[in-house]
Amino acid sequence: ALIDKGNHRHFMQKEIFEQPVVVAQTLQSYLRPLEEQVALPQMDFELGDIRRVTIVACGTSFYAGMVAKYWFEQFARMPVDLDVASEFRYRQPVLEEGGLALFISQSGETADTLAALRHARAEGQKIAVVVNVPTSSMAREADLLLPTHAGPEIGVASTKAFTCQLAVLAALAANLARARGKLSADEERDIVGHLAEAPAALNAALAHDEDIEAMAHLVAPARDVLYLGRGPDYPMALEGALKLKEISYIHAEGYAAGEMKHGPIALIDENVPVIVLAPSGPLFEKTVSNMQEVQARGGKVILISDAEGIAQAGEGTIATIEMPRVHPLIAPLVYAVPVQLLAYHVAVAKGTDVDQPRNLAKSVTVE
Ligand code: G6P
Repeated sequence: ALIDKGNHRHFMQKEIFEQPVVVAQTLQSYLRPLEEQVALPQMDFELGDIRRVTIVACGTSFYAGMVAKYWFEQFARMPVDLDVASEFRYRQPVLEEGGLALFISQSGETADTLAALRHARAEGQKIAVVVNVPTSSMAREADLLLPTHAGPEIGVASTKAFTCQLAVLAALAANLARARGKLSADEERDIVGHLAEAPAALNAALAHDEDIEAMAHLVAPARDVLYLGRGPDYPMALEGALKLKEISYIHAEGYAAGEMKHGPIALIDENVPVIVLAPSGPLFEKTVSNMQEVQARGGKVILISDAEGIAQAGEGTIATIEMPRVHPLIAPLVYAVPVQLLAYHVAVAKGTDVDQPRNLAKSVTVE
């Protein structure tokens, strides 16, 4: 099929805006709305027999895995290990019987991830793969193939493949929870309902595109930018920083909000924008107090939260980005949008090559 940018200036922009459609498309394979159940493709083993999950990936796919670790632990009470693929084999991981090794990759060809998959297979693990390219090496080598239906992703910096990975991983979390007896039929029905709302929530997030474009000038001149989050929003902070680095060449770091006082707070001054990802919920107050520590040192905060969170803590920030209020299971999908758009608009403001950033490759097939 001919792939073009349509009305968009860049593939990355097009792919960001495709997310409601491709996430809906992906969820279709994993939800049975009529039965109010989640569902997985056929596999030759029992999910309920799995005793530990080892998640391995690179780059943005690794951050999807990091979000999944929070979900698998919280919802399924499943022990989870997590590694970047380039470290996995070499640290001699202990892989015991009953382990499921889960690989996440847009391309299905990343050399480190593929080598890690083969290592895990040799060590007797069941192999699950979340992958966007159905004909890829990883897809062929899986015991449990969990496709994302994001369609071809052309922009080097991953966007829609990432949110589709999260959608699949959320469904997998629910399946694991059910298999382990941690999910009642009512809870499962609720989860199906919340996941089904994700595309609409993504649309609501995308509606802030112009606001975010208008605040790009707050970030574009910076030399350093910090992203803070807690819980599953911590990996989202890491992903936000990665997106900004990749396409705008601004040095950015994601930090667990509570860890900021152990180092990065030393960097804070009026020239370091701090992007805080904080949906309202049980961790909100704690993140806000970390945010206030930044403000007390003259730091300029951009708060990404829902209306309630912004009403509670928006004062003293230089800007706020309002997200719809959503269930914690879909918050990472929704909060992906503003960090993608911010990176995109900052890069456009700086005039960098958004779709083909210098020194980066779409798929890294060497170690
Ligand atoms: C490269 C790309 C990233 C991607 C990473 C992992 O670094 O530039 O966007 O996240 O590879 O790729 P994969 O295809 O395994 O998800």
